[in-house]
Amino acid sequence: MPHQCQAWLRRWAGSEKPCKKTPHRPRGERRHIMRIGIIGAGRVGTALAKGWVRAGHDIVFGVTNPNDPKHSAAAAAGAGIASVGDAASHCDVVVLTVPWSAVPAAVAACGNLDGRLVIDVTNPLTAGADGIDLALGFSTSGAEEVARLAPGASVFKTMNQVGFEVMSDTSGYAAPPVMFVAGDDQGRKPMIMELVSDLGFEALDAGPLKRARLLEPYALLWIDQAYIFGMPRTSAFAFLAKQAP
Ligand SMILES: NC(=O)c1ccc[n+]([C@@H]2O[C@H](COP(=O)([O-])OP(=O)(O)OC[C@H]3O[C@@H](n4cnc5c(N)ncnc54)[C@H](OP(=O)(O)O)[C@@H]3O)[C@@H](O)[C@H]2O)c1
Repeated sequence: MPHQCQAWLRRWAGSEKPCKKTPHRPRGERRHIMRIGIIGAGRVGTALAKGWVRAGHDIVFGVTNPNDPKHSAAAAAGAGIASVGDAASHCDVVVLTVPWSAVPAAVAACGNLDGRLVIDVTNPLTAGADGIDLALGFSTSGAEEVARLAPGASVFKTMNQVGFEVMSDTSGYAAPPVMFVAGDDQGRKPMIMELVSDLGFEALDAGPLKRARLLEPYALLWIDQAYIFGMPRTSAFAFLAKQAP
């Protein structure tokens, strides 16, 4: 286990509660500092880490080879680097940011996820006749497959609906970009929505996990706009309330 990983695990193991409240929010407003295990340190993983570090959360990446020097930049930016199993077992929430084809291996490497919070950011993409297409739907979704692979876990689908460029920087939009959250665990959904809000998104409840069947095609709509219609990859969706009659 690399040095930075040991230090990170010691620091996390030393925190007295799995989830602390920050002291600086106005009274009555809840906010939790989370220990977030991001599985996959690619474009999405590092973009999410940037936003969550900025919001004060603790990040560790779970990667296939923690000794690979390509991870030193992430470590220098304040994130821990660990094996997938170590990252998953020492965090409050596991965030899956691996290619769809790697999901079964990554979930298996996480170990027992019974009772754990899992955010599925992946999109089940495949090559289709017209370019990028969905590998499955509409009678199931990638998120439901993740839930099947991780029995007992509280799986949420979110952060899959825009490009990684938006995830790391939500400033400069006329209105906060919207990000839907689907998941069955109503009790812990507010915590996940808070994490989404911490990145600067307007977090909206999309309903139970099976609503991921809408959120994954919705991601494909963004992909089409960026790759086929040439819209800037910083483009985001907004969900606007009418201000005047
Ligand atoms: N790109 C976007 O804008 C975007 C937006 C929304 C959602 N998504 C979805 O998010 C996921 C990640 O996309 P990305 O663009 O970040 O891909 P990426 O840049 O290729 O990164 C994927 C990362 O996953 C790691 N990985 C692969 N297999 C793994 C395993 N078994 N265990 C741990 N890590 C593993 C890879 O690292 P190694 O090669 O070192 O193993 C790589 O760093 C995809 O499912 C994608 O559909 C992407």
